[in-house]
Amino acid sequence: MMRSKILVTREVFDETLDYLAQHCEVESNQQDLSFTAVALAQRLADKDAVMCCLTDRIDGALLERSTRLKVVANIAVGYNNIDVAACTARGVMATNTPGVLDDSTADLAWALMLATARRLTEVESYIRAGEWTGWRLKQWLGVDVHHATLGIIGMGRIGQVIAKRAAGFDMKVLYCNRKPVAREIEQRLNATYVTRDELLAQSDFVILQVPYSAQTHHLIGAAELKMMKPTAILINSTRGGVVDDAALIAALKGGTIRGAGLDVFENEPKLDPGFLELRNVVLAPHIGSSTEATRRAMAMTAAQNLIAGLTGRTPPNLLNPEARKQ
Ligand code: DGY
Repeated sequence: MMRSKILVTREVFDETLDYLAQHCEVESNQQDLSFTAVALAQRLADKDAVMCCLTDRIDGALLERSTRLKVVANIAVGYNNIDVAACTARGVMATNTPGVLDDSTADLAWALMLATARRLTEVESYIRAGEWTGWRLKQWLGVDVHHATLGIIGMGRIGQVIAKRAAGFDMKVLYCNRKPVAREIEQRLNATYVTRDELLAQSDFVILQVPYSAQTHHLIGAAELKMMKPTAILINSTRGGVVDDAALIAALKGGTIRGAGLDVFENEPKLDPGFLELRNVVLAPHIGSSTEATRRAMAMTAAQNLIAGLTGRTPPNLLNPEARKQ
C-alpha cells in the first residue's frame, strides 16, 4: 500500500519526526529556513498533509494548487496564518494545539508584567554597562504588581490561567470577553466582568489574550491607549496586529501610559524601530510558549492531529469539523 506523503515545514524535535515516520513518508525542513510561497506550493504538490507553523501562510491560492492535501496541522494554538474557510471549502482538515501551551504562555505574560513593572531589562543593561556605583534610595523605582488591578482582555483558556496566578499577588482581577465566563469560573478566579472601556480606565496592568482576526485588528489603538491610566502597563503576548504598534510607540513616548511588555509585533520579525529607542518597553521575540517541554508537546500534538486526520479518525483539535463531511 502507498504510504501518505507529508511535509513538515520547519525544524521539529526528533521524537516528532520518529512518530510521523512510523505512519508516513516525511519530507522535513530541518534546516529551518522559512519557505517562500512558491517553494511551499512546489513541495505541497504531492503531499497529503502538512505540519506547519505560524510563519507559513496557508491560503486559498496555496490550497488550490495542493490538490492532494487532506490535513493542515498547525504547531500553534493561534491559526490566523491559515484560511480555515478555504480549507473547509476544499475538504481539508485544519488543526491547532490548544491546551498544552496555556501555562507556559501565561507564565510569559506574567514575566513581561513583572519585568516591565520592575524595569528589569533597563537595570540589566545598566549593570552590564558597568554603571552601577552604589545603592540609592530613589534608584530605579518601579511599580507594584501586588495589590494592583489586573485587566485581562480575552478570558479564554490562557486568560483564565493568567487570572489564576493573580491570586498569589493579591490582585483585583477585571476581565472582558465576547461574553462572561461561567459564574463558577468567575468565582474561582475572583474575576469581575466589565466593559472594555471600564477595564481600560481602571486597570494598572492590561493583558491582551484575544486571538488575532479582522475583528481584533488594532483592538488597542490611540483612542484605547488614551483611556488607560498614565501609570498603566500594557502586555501583549498574543499576536501582533491586536495592537497598533505606531500608536503604542507614540503613547509610550508621550507618557500616555507608563510602559509595555511585548512578545509579539505587527510585521514581526521586523520591528518598528521606534520600539528600540524606548526604555519603558520590555521586548521579547515571540517566545510565549517557548519552553522545552511545551514546544515538544505542541509539536507532538500537531503530529497526532495530522496522523489522526490521515488515518480516517477525527483529529482531537479539529478546527473545521465540516471539512470531514465533504
Ligand atoms: C501560538 O501557539 O499561537 C503561539 O503564538 C506560538 O507559540
